[in-house]
Amino acid sequence: MLNSNIQIFDTTLRDGEQVPGCKLDTQQKLIIADQLDQLGVDVIEAGFPVSSPGDFKSVNEISKLIKNATVCGLTRSVENDIKVAAEALKHAKYPRIHTGIGTSDSHIKHKFKSTREAILDRAYKAVKYAKTFVEDVEFYAEDAGRTDNDYLARICEAAIEAGATVLNIPDTTGYCLPSEYGAKMKYLKENVKGIEKAILSCHCHNDLGLATANSIEGVINGARQIECTINGIGERAGNTALEEVVMILKQHPYLQLDTNIDTSMLYGLSQLVSDKMGIYTQPNKAIVGANAFAHSSGIHQDGVIKNRATYEIIDPKDVGVTESAIVLTARSGRAALAYRAKNVGYELTKLQLDEVYENFLSFADKKKEIDDDDIHQIVETSKVYREIMASA
Ligand code: KIV
Ligand code: ZN
Repeated sequence: MLNSNIQIFDTTLRDGEQVPGCKLDTQQKLIIADQLDQLGVDVIEAGFPVSSPGDFKSVNEISKLIKNATVCGLTRSVENDIKVAAEALKHAKYPRIHTGIGTSDSHIKHKFKSTREAILDRAYKAVKYAKTFVEDVEFYAEDAGRTDNDYLARICEAAIEAGATVLNIPDTTGYCLPSEYGAKMKYLKENVKGIEKAILSCHCHNDLGLATANSIEGVINGARQIECTINGIGERAGNTALEEVVMILKQHPYLQLDTNIDTSMLYGLSQLVSDKMGIYTQPNKAIVGANAFAHSSGIHQDGVIKNRATYEIIDPKDVGVTESAIVLTARSGRAALAYRAKNVGYELTKLQLDEVYENFLSFADKKKEIDDDDIHQIVETSKVYREIMASA
């Protein structure tokens, strides 16, 4: 089997920015969009142009700036939304309109008070209308995760017939199990007439913590695009985290699915987005959290000092983190203390280490984490200090 390229569709600036209190201004969006372009994402969803003059301006300015990625604007299946998005995207080198409608019975009945046939007709017309402005039109079937597969296939066929280039299958409420989401993609691949004319896209939310697993299952079953955000930010529990899906595909080469992402930029971008949006990233966040490459228990530290791969499946440098951290706490062992002491200039013999370690434990029981200044103090107040200095 040949390697298959998975398109990375970043929606940090649209779905990600829907996090309450995280509104970005155009200048901040331009900085992030420029970095996303350098990161190598294939598509940047820059905003929802009809939603506000500010969003229109951001999509417009990003369209002027971006030279490599496709720039995309979101719309509902409403003519004015589509016209406004086309206007906002008019300077883009590669513009894409992302239009769609809710397709689950719940959306059709409660949100639209409509029928399946009428929704199908609106979907078809929206794509057809978007095609009068741009060649590249992505159709989303909102709440596809809870949409009956047979109806979903029919609506996908209508979108393809109207000219859709990408079919987005959102698990809007984060409800699906990975096996269900994967089966949905497989069903569409096998049952939608004309599916070879479009690519299927995964758009997963994290309400049950399954967004990443669902996206991976989606591409294993034939989807060729993943919609995601930096740090997994987004509505409610967030979206699929870009850094997670990219590193999963990189660390599992036998899947033969790869991306165009420069992974060495991942940590920097995570910090940038967290800083601009004012959202703190949890320390245990996979790939980019402060503790993702930190080792604190004695057994793990000893293993990592002997060989990093003992407890790390990713080389931190691959994601832009300078090195693994050996964190000194009361759970640390002699190997970690010797390693950190050496880093600050003390080469300890086995006997000296035993002495210093006793002193270290009484410090560590009083303090959560021992830093470099503490190490100096611990060594200087040890009985063997003079001996250490004499042999230095
Ligand atoms: O989650 C969702 O369904 C969406 C669509 C608007 C694409 O974000
Ligand atoms: Zn979404």
